[in-house]
Amino acid sequence: MGKSMDAIMALCKRRGFVYQASEIYGGINGFWDYGPLGTLLKRNLREAWWQDMIMNPCWGRQGPDGEPVRCVPVETRIIQHPRVWEASGHVGGFNDPMVDCKACKSRFRADHLIALPLHALTSVETAGEQSREVFVFYGLGTPAEVRQQRAKEIARLEAQRTLQSLVPPLVYLHNYETLKADFECPACRQRGSLTAPRQFNLMFKTYVGATASEDDIAYLRPETAQGIFVQFKNVVDTTRIKVPFGIGNVGTSFRNEVTPRNFTFRSREFEQAELEFFCHPDDSQGWYRFWRDFRMEWWRSIGLAGDNLQLREHDQDELSHYSTGTCDVEYRFPFTAPDFGELEGVAHRGCFDLTQHQEHSRVKLDYFDQERGELLPNGSRKGERYIPHVIEPAAGLDRGALALICEAYTVDESRPSPEIMKFHPRMAPIKAAVFPLVNKDGMPEVAQKLTDELRARFGRHGLIESDPKQSIGKRYARMDEAGCPYCFTIDGDTLTDQTVTVRDRDSGAQERIAIDKVSGYLSERLGL
Ligand code: GAP
Repeated sequence: MGKSMDAIMALCKRRGFVYQASEIYGGINGFWDYGPLGTLLKRNLREAWWQDMIMNPCWGRQGPDGEPVRCVPVETRIIQHPRVWEASGHVGGFNDPMVDCKACKSRFRADHLIALPLHALTSVETAGEQSREVFVFYGLGTPAEVRQQRAKEIARLEAQRTLQSLVPPLVYLHNYETLKADFECPACRQRGSLTAPRQFNLMFKTYVGATASEDDIAYLRPETAQGIFVQFKNVVDTTRIKVPFGIGNVGTSFRNEVTPRNFTFRSREFEQAELEFFCHPDDSQGWYRFWRDFRMEWWRSIGLAGDNLQLREHDQDELSHYSTGTCDVEYRFPFTAPDFGELEGVAHRGCFDLTQHQEHSRVKLDYFDQERGELLPNGSRKGERYIPHVIEPAAGLDRGALALICEAYTVDESRPSPEIMKFHPRMAPIKAAVFPLVNKDGMPEVAQKLTDELRARFGRHGLIESDPKQSIGKRYARMDEAGCPYCFTIDGDTLTDQTVTVRDRDSGAQERIAIDKVSGYLSERLGL
């Protein structure tokens, strides 16, 4: 049987992983806070990304060019000049089509909509100066099934030669009034009750300065990526780094999602960890494959190791017009099963973003590569000027934390306390716990000394808990629910033979080791 999302959410609340934001005021839809354990879990995830992407990129591996991968960080602001978002296309085009049911008041994203029967209509829409074909698809089923139906429909259109160009998938209700009667609300099943889709811009607006006039409108960033593109030139000019290289940015992004749902999966405020990797256009396919494979391996390395993780290459019809490849690292969440939900996108963005910002800002964003171009008689190269192509691994840290929570959640009815969070030791918020068997006879003092020693050695990686109260069984159970991998117990024997009991979270097995070996034991198992 699959894992129960209700049980996972209950544990998250009970043990302080995730709370509803503003809960005492009734909550606010699409916003979640982290409690002490959730904060530590997410910090471990962020740190792991930072370490393995920036500080020691790809665990010191070489890229497809045979050189070590090079990455640097930036920290850019949530609020940027509004023209950044015009250039990136977010102000004009970052829309979700939204449909309401007049009968039961449910709201749906039209591209997630279930409708009958399957239609594929074409029309021409003018967006700015670009004229593009708009395809309208209505499918019955889950998003994956609808995608399949859409792929079939595209194949049929291609065969008929009616498909002139591939455009980003766009749902647009054409001729709605004549079709309305066909559609039924997926929630209440009433026919003809759905409103026509309205385009809904996902950008949060705010005002900068005191006057709050139209001229002061600014936006909260919907992605951290654009901060990287607009600082690309500064990074090249102020460091000695050379293409190919990556720039990483981690921080909060905001999207006024039409239908925030599935716990933290689709929130209105969330954290991203994005890397923009700049390379020569000729090398971009090699780097695309490199990053796609590495990102999949990375998620596996922190505990998403089973068949709940998959890599899905986008179909041609899902690709943006500037992209020659995009794939998603997907996780089978309990609420998406048997389907998968996106954890991270790895996109080949071509030179789209730098070109857009170059055009809108009128600042040259090309790169002079001294190591390319014709070989000169003196043995050096003539150099080549180009706009680098970009491979973008874009991860969501809240979705990542949610996947880690769902993966860790295990029910073992044979154990006295059946709920166990089997976090990978690197991700575990509590790294170890130290218990005096009883709170007397010199045991608390020995436990405190060991706790102090372990905190000094491992404290920067996570909590070292010390808990003298309640029965030992209850203390183990509390640590199992918190996902603490190792508990050390000081008992009467410790005082005579200097050994402690170590209990393994996953198996419940216990063994005795010398107290002066505890630090080494933990270091080996935590990989620290
Ligand atoms: N710069 C590219 C970009 O932002 P994206 O696929 O829209 O790409 C990247 O977002 C990642 O950010 C997603 O894979 C997901 O993990 C996370 N993300 C996006 N929207 C989210 C939301 N509303 N709530 C939580 N995480 C979200």
